[in-house]
Amino acid sequence: MEEERIISSESQIADAKEGSLRPKLLDNFVGQGKAKRNLKIFIQAAQKRNESIEHILLYGPPGLGKTTLANIIANEMHVNIKTTSGPAIERPGDLAAILTNLQEGDILFIDEIHRLNRSVEEVLYPAMEDFELDIVIGKGPSARSIRLDVPHFTLIGATTRAGLLSAPLRDRFGIIERLEFYNLDELIFIVTRAAGVLGVALNENTALEIAKRSRGTPRIANRLLKRVRDWAQIKSDGIVTKAIIKEAVTGLGVDHIGLDDVDRKYLKTIIIKFRGGPVGVDTISASIAEESDTIEDVYEPYLLQLGFIERTPRGRTATLLAYQHLDIAYRPGVVQQDEQYKLF
Ligand SMILES: Nc1ncnc2c1ncn2[C@@H]1O[C@H](COP(=O)(O)OP(=O)(O)OP(=O)(O)O)[C@@H](O)[C@H]1O
Ligand SMILES: [Mg+2]
Repeated sequence: MEEERIISSESQIADAKEGSLRPKLLDNFVGQGKAKRNLKIFIQAAQKRNESIEHILLYGPPGLGKTTLANIIANEMHVNIKTTSGPAIERPGDLAAILTNLQEGDILFIDEIHRLNRSVEEVLYPAMEDFELDIVIGKGPSARSIRLDVPHFTLIGATTRAGLLSAPLRDRFGIIERLEFYNLDELIFIVTRAAGVLGVALNENTALEIAKRSRGTPRIANRLLKRVRDWAQIKSDGIVTKAIIKEAVTGLGVDHIGLDDVDRKYLKTIIIKFRGGPVGVDTISASIAEESDTIEDVYEPYLLQLGFIERTPRGRTATLLAYQHLDIAYRPGVVQQDEQYKLF
């Protein structure tokens, strides 16, 4: 289900060619002013001292540029980057193999670092701190532990949820940067640049129409752009107009502020079924048949940003803005029998 949704900010197969749209230098990376300023200083300082840069944790919703930034850092530091992910490193031995194959100064990028196995994590601690590995060889009474030196590497960890990281792991990062949703101007810039790479002609107006529907997320902006390009090619000889954009995205169930069917179903479920909330995320999850992790990582961050929902200790509530967007009378606490038909 998730995989087919254009609005999903998670990576999809069609994004495999993301590489060509990725900026390679910090100066070409739009937005994320705070993170960019900090990283620039850390990079320059490390270069001046001729040392490797400190371990960096990047976190934030999918598609905002964590992988892109990791690659930019490697590029700016003129070092190699080895990319892997939390679930891919199954045993301590896997991690040992990766670490001992690194060269001095290299970057190890671990995506979805919150999904690292506990036993792997424990091997990672001394490697991050003292650049040493303790590994156990053999089993039972003949087992012995040996200590290996590993090159001075930089770990860049990426996660959609820093809250899921264990405290000892989080504490070992010298630099922790949170990525934010992009504003309209930044998205217009990104989509215009991508249009240049893809050979699509956009003007200020058409770029804005795409930006508005991108949920503050470059990955979605790029994906919508490709969709619009295809649509325009078939319907209007490649000429992109506002009308073409509307047609292309309406067919995907995306509305004028970038919400799609699942977003609306989520909001309507809170409003109509659960009287506007509060309702727990697991209950919503069961109601709309989406995993609660996906709800928390992918849908809620943007709805929170829009101010459509609030998180309370007792669960989620829908705000007046959400009612207005869905054109439902604001009657929190009331079961909206007459609106039931709007649920699906
Ligand atoms: N600041 C930016 N400027 C231009 N393009 C960007 C920027 N940030 C991201 N992108 C584009 O968005 C796409 C997704 O970015 P990226 O893969 O780095 O996201 P991510 O945060 O690693 O996502 P995930 O959590 O799913 O791994 C990339 O193809 C890149 O082209
Ligand atoms: Mg990524």
